[in-house]
Amino acid sequence: MRYPPVAKKFPHILHGGDYNPEQWLAWKDKIWKEDMRLAKLAGVNTLSVGIFSWTALEPEEGVYRFEWLDEVMDLLAANSIAAVLATPSGARPAWLSKKYPEVLRVNEMRLRNVHGDRHNHCLSSPVYREKTQAINRLLARRYKDHPALAVWHISNEYSGSCHCPLCQTKFREYLKTRYKTLDALNEAWWSAFWSSTITDWDQIESPGSPGNGGHNGIRLDWRRFTTEQFVDFYRNETTPLKEITPNIPCTTNLMAGYTGIDYARFAEVLDIASWDSYPQWTSAEGNDKIALQTSYLHDLIRGLKRRPFMLMESCPSATNWRPVAKLHRPGLHMLQSMQALAHGADTIQYFQFRKSRGGPEQYHGAVVDHEGSGNTRVFRDIAEVGERLKGLDGLVGADTPALVALIHDYQVRWALDDARGFLQDKTGYGETLLNHYQVFWKRGIPLDLIDSRQTLDRYHLVIAPMLYMLREGVAERLDAFVRQGGTLVTTYATGYVNESTLAFLGGFPGPLKETLGIWCEEIDALYPGETNSIEWNGTSYRAFDLCELIHTTQRTETLGLYGADFYSGRPALTLNRRGAGRAYFIAARTGEDFLDDFYRHITAEAGIPYLFENLPEGVTAQIRENGERTFAFLLNFTNSAKQVSGPSGVFDLEPFEARIIESPLTRASP
Ligand code: GLA
Ligand code: ZN
Repeated sequence: MRYPPVAKKFPHILHGGDYNPEQWLAWKDKIWKEDMRLAKLAGVNTLSVGIFSWTALEPEEGVYRFEWLDEVMDLLAANSIAAVLATPSGARPAWLSKKYPEVLRVNEMRLRNVHGDRHNHCLSSPVYREKTQAINRLLARRYKDHPALAVWHISNEYSGSCHCPLCQTKFREYLKTRYKTLDALNEAWWSAFWSSTITDWDQIESPGSPGNGGHNGIRLDWRRFTTEQFVDFYRNETTPLKEITPNIPCTTNLMAGYTGIDYARFAEVLDIASWDSYPQWTSAEGNDKIALQTSYLHDLIRGLKRRPFMLMESCPSATNWRPVAKLHRPGLHMLQSMQALAHGADTIQYFQFRKSRGGPEQYHGAVVDHEGSGNTRVFRDIAEVGERLKGLDGLVGADTPALVALIHDYQVRWALDDARGFLQDKTGYGETLLNHYQVFWKRGIPLDLIDSRQTLDRYHLVIAPMLYMLREGVAERLDAFVRQGGTLVTTYATGYVNESTLAFLGGFPGPLKETLGIWCEEIDALYPGETNSIEWNGTSYRAFDLCELIHTTQRTETLGLYGADFYSGRPALTLNRRGAGRAYFIAARTGEDFLDDFYRHITAEAGIPYLFENLPEGVTAQIRENGERTFAFLLNFTNSAKQVSGPSGVFDLEPFEARIIESPLTRASP
């Protein structure tokens, strides 16, 4: 299947990045023209402008200077470069903070920040909302018919939260809407504990530490509220853009590793998902883990809207803010760019086009270095990517044909992270998901990472590790999926609490008991280094960290048993056949060895096709399809040559090679 291009007017893979011409205003005659020449040379067809330009656009309240941006937009159009035009709310002019101190963010200790830096504004302030909307409206009016305008880039990396009095009031309003009565709120927060009962809405305070920072109910609702604040703030920013330029898509650059916002909810208001990827590549060896994590994050972002996304920023060389700002080894730039495409990106963009001469990011990798010519190693690497992308128009909008879904839920993570039990801070939701994910990455089986509230109809296999909190309707949807013939895999720490983090009474996994045909009585936490085992299929697999003690009910089959301790011989791996499907339960945390073998068995049983059998270590295969053609990506993250064999042939890969095999590939059946 094929989706429309992210920017309708530019049906190509977009290649470019953040461009800050206002930093070079005094040199514009020389530098801006040279920038256009270099952009062409590098195969750059998009530049993101205006991201931190508020002061350049509005140097005094109500005094606007758009002329320089007019000139930049015209230059872009004249050079066939698509403008990703930003709204400037990510950083604001000093006059604004001075005149309206309410726009400054307040931290959890209730101290107001001083002016400066970025991400430093209140999310409720009517003045800030009014000012951002006003400048956004002017931008939209001015450039609505501009041939360069392709995509709106809203603000920059929204993050954090504000605890000012305005935000406290909004938090209380949010809770009033959510709970209607104080009784319902007190019930949800289990407030009789530690005399926490709220008797007046005004008593409610955002979590602060020390203070009510440890109360899981409040913390969870605060993060939900903060997410809604960003949704609302984003809507406020986009209202004039949607009115004036209804055909220009809006996005904001996310940070896939960031967990402070429920991105699954936030994505509902985005037209396209986009993110900024900064993998910490090592020198020659040891890149498999980084490659795996990066792939996972790409998939996480693609899963937000289940369609191609934008790689809004990446670094073409040294990332200055890393403690060790290592250069990309030769080949890595091409490889990381192809990796993004392999996972569903339709753009390869960088921070930044021209390196700043001063300021905190003056040593951040860029297309054009201080030296200034196209005659650098990094520039040539980028130009090589640009050249290659020109031949990949067929990839624009191509789908990822995943039959497997791995459930990743921000709210489940929040609830688990705050649960005082299990392994405290090392409960490891993210690590656990990555552990299940790596099996599919190593075998080149495409997988969608989706929120627990997504529809499941397109999948054969759904994996939901540590689904600790069952949000409204989730258990029912999973059960229907199984009964209709799907395969579900869940694990320990599933189905403990409801949406308010109140424990299910009557046995875990609460409303999934019937589906899984088990109930969990206790969960054992193991010390570091301590192990148990799961005995399955004649093999003994290491179990560690968390071992749940379960009972089977109904006609549930026990496939694996614990091998040690007082629960030796009790069920550790179970299968419940239900309706036309199957529900598996893994009771303990295991290593890759078990997961590899287990999923080999499950994918065969569930009829999940794969492209290549036995991919060498450090190599992954990914696939996209545009309805007519298949693009199989073979990515070698090692610095040694590798050989891959599949139904369509044998492929020799150079160190760090990214190969794209474009054809009607036949996939081997399991
Ligand atoms: C983020 C920001 C950019 C820049 C880069 C540097 O992604 O969005 O403005 O600061 O980091 O890596
Ligand atoms: Zn505030």
